[in-house]
Amino acid sequence: DWSMDDFIDEQIAKIRETVGDKRVLLGLSGGVDSSVVGVLLHKAIGNQLTSIFVDHGLLRKNEADEVMDALGGKFGLNIIKVDAQERFLNKLAGVTDPEQKRKIIGNEFIRVFDEEAVKLDGIDFLAQGTLYTDVIESGTDTAQTIKSHHNVGGLPEDIQFQLIEPLNKLFKDEVRLLGEKLGMPHELVWRQPFPGPGLGIRVLGEVTEDKLEIVRESDAILRDEIAKQGLDSEVWQYFTVLPGVRSVGVMGDGRTYDHTIAIRAITSVDGMTADFAKLPWDVLEEISRRIVNETDHVNRVVYDITAKPPATVEWE
Ligand code: XMP
Repeated sequence: DWSMDDFIDEQIAKIRETVGDKRVLLGLSGGVDSSVVGVLLHKAIGNQLTSIFVDHGLLRKNEADEVMDALGGKFGLNIIKVDAQERFLNKLAGVTDPEQKRKIIGNEFIRVFDEEAVKLDGIDFLAQGTLYTDVIESGTDTAQTIKSHHNVGGLPEDIQFQLIEPLNKLFKDEVRLLGEKLGMPHELVWRQPFPGPGLGIRVLGEVTEDKLEIVRESDAILRDEIAKQGLDSEVWQYFTVLPGVRSVGVMGDGRTYDHTIAIRAITSVDGMTADFAKLPWDVLEEISRRIVNETDHVNRVVYDITAKPPATVEWE
């Protein structure tokens, strides 16, 4: 459509004018937003863009490889992959407060960027996939902060990057349209949103590798079943949460006392408001059966039937 073509031309001109012959650093998360920013910037300034993909250990199953293959491989972005799993886990050890967890993960991200930027020499700009909704919900122009989104603000004072945020006037559906216009593959553009703090806010309370594994495995099963049923375009976002509650169950002749997995599946237009997805019972039944059978230490599955508001999409 016309206005999106204009938007691309305008943004490319604007990016070229702003950047000149300088270099730009981008934090790639693997989500739609930063991927679109990456492709847009690559189109505008080519190899003046260097992307950093931090594997913080809070990613979904196989996600790191998929991101590297799609953006590094097909689109030819210059991506530095940083394996920082242990670093993030150490910082998160013993921390249970959701806002503190978000801040720790966000700050650690910035620190990793800074370290890489210093090595790269001569980087002046930091690009981010901030959306209009992030700007609103982080309280930049409203009085109340709902959740601190880690891709807005929070830059340590000693870092002198200038920010480039080409998506900060766009809603999610517009970003997807933009991605399609840029020729990005369907599965990348229609990928469900994934929060910067990743599985770190889907393991409620303290994050440990064992708990992450439970969320990662159950989430992979959920995604597999939703895809098999062809529901991935109808359901806006779907994931599993580990509330940290254990309950009694029975398996064979034995009593179990194990974890509960919660499924969050929503329909939404922009993430600002949402309804729980009315998934067919037999689909939920199969998801539940597989999660309990195939994920260690899970003996119960529950479905989150809360709208936003009053609940948020993520549990933390
Ligand atoms: P909430 O939980 O605030 O989520 O209702 C609304 C949408 O935003 C995503 N989300 C985030 N995205 N950084 C992001 O880029 C974040 O820190 C973050 N927290 C939540 C969430 O997955 C949902 O799509």
